[in-house]
Amino acid sequence: MRVRARRQRRASSVLLLLLWLSRKDQSALLNFFSTGLEFHRNYSSWAYRGPCFNELREITSLDASSYGYSHIGSLRKMFLRSFTVDVSGLDKTSIIKHLRERTSAPIKEVKSALVNCNWDIEAAQKDLRKRGVVLASKKSSRTAAEGLLALVKNDKEAAVIELNCETDFVARNEVFQYLALSLANKVLSIGSSGEKAATIFPFGPEYLEELKINLSHEKLSGETTVQSAITEVAAMVGENVKLRRGFRVLKSPHGVISSYLHSCPQPGLGRFAGIVTLEPEVHSVLVDALQQVGSQLAMHVVASKPLFLSKDLVPSEALENERDILKSQAESTGKSQLAVEKMVEGRLKKYLEEVVFMEQKFIVNDSVNVKSLIDNLSREVGSPVKVSNFLRLEVGEGIQRVEASNAPEGLAQAA
Ligand SMILES: *[C@@H]1O[C@H](CO)[C@@H](O)[C@H](O)[C@H]1NC(C)=O
Ligand SMILES: *[C@@H]1O[C@H](CO)[C@@H](O)[C@H](O)[C@H]1NC(C)=O
Ligand SMILES: *[C@@H]1O[C@H](CO)[C@@H](O)[C@H](O)[C@H]1NC(C)=O
Ligand SMILES: *[C@@H]1O[C@H](CO)[C@@H](O)[C@H](O)[C@H]1NC(C)=O
Repeated sequence: MRVRARRQRRASSVLLLLLWLSRKDQSALLNFFSTGLEFHRNYSSWAYRGPCFNELREITSLDASSYGYSHIGSLRKMFLRSFTVDVSGLDKTSIIKHLRERTSAPIKEVKSALVNCNWDIEAAQKDLRKRGVVLASKKSSRTAAEGLLALVKNDKEAAVIELNCETDFVARNEVFQYLALSLANKVLSIGSSGEKAATIFPFGPEYLEELKINLSHEKLSGETTVQSAITEVAAMVGENVKLRRGFRVLKSPHGVISSYLHSCPQPGLGRFAGIVTLEPEVHSVLVDALQQVGSQLAMHVVASKPLFLSKDLVPSEALENERDILKSQAESTGKSQLAVEKMVEGRLKKYLEEVVFMEQKFIVNDSVNVKSLIDNLSREVGSPVKVSNFLRLEVGEGIQRVEASNAPEGLAQAA
């Protein structure tokens, strides 16, 4: 009780002082409290001893207008907490503006957070983040089928993630894009545990959620967990933001890994991604030739949407299913049994040329298929080359199914 009375006394004396100071002085004073750096000794001695008229005069006479609000110390918090009424008379607009710049949160939210926290910008920022959790959980039932793929590579592997949002507008947001790239880089930084063979590892969001991530973006808080970074961005952009899936694509020691992104807002981001790993049987010095064909094939994968790597990797159920469909189509023509069988086989061949990577016409030169392109490449590098894996991803593909089954989509992989 006594402490409170003392605080109130102190509050009223400073209130009087503030009323007495000119408006310009008031801003200078507020600015001063937002630094707490240059004049630390003055500052703390004042804070511990209580307000002293002369020292405050001294402070206001200093030009502190160039300081932002980014170095606010706990002492200023004491000051602001005790004198809410006074602060509301000061330059609120600039505090609001500053917090908005920091967080990108809607102005209404920023204002109410500041009011809740007695205009303490640090506390208000925390408050916004907490509310972000509330907003994000309310939003999380809305379908997020837009977004971006982020793809990064090193000399051993590629990492690609899909980060979803609700609208294309948010996918163009710079903070959203920063987060997507940061997540892909996070995956890449985890590194491989010495795998020797070319492999694709699909993973769900739970693989990353708890991991620490260090964001160096002015609007995001440095070290945090992946999950809270996502929540923070969701609050900022006002949409449901979800990390949907990711893949690590590893190459074999002699191999090359090639990728292609389509619809790129900036390097490493896109709406469609193709990844191909090529593997010569023995080490080849003609890495350039491998890489060039690899890049073309990665683009081919995006354009031609293969489902299976080779004919013998098409599951027999898929083949039978297709045969059944073609058969009933052919039978409806009323032709003879023999003619129907011929038709079915012909169409089945065509179907395989459409969905099997090695049988597809090469997008860059459709007078050859991928198989003969690879044969040609093998001759060129002097060693049999095989496509070890390919992966094609598209933002939002099959999103309903995934929501129901939680299985990663779009994985096409050789055994
Ligand atoms: C306050 O800080 C100013 C500038 O650093 C210095 O000149 C002055 O002596 C300080 N006053 C006190 C009481 O420490
Ligand atoms: C986080 O990143 C920033 C900027 O890149 C760096 O200064 C800081 O030391 C990093 N923190 C950690 C814990 O790695
Ligand atoms: C396409 O491939 C054929 C067969 O190898 C070749 O004769 C032709 O020159 C190629 N066309 C282009 C544009 O590369
Ligand atoms: C086949 O390889 C040769 C080089 O050995 C190259 O000039 C030619 O364009 C390749 N053909 C195709 C269709 O890629």
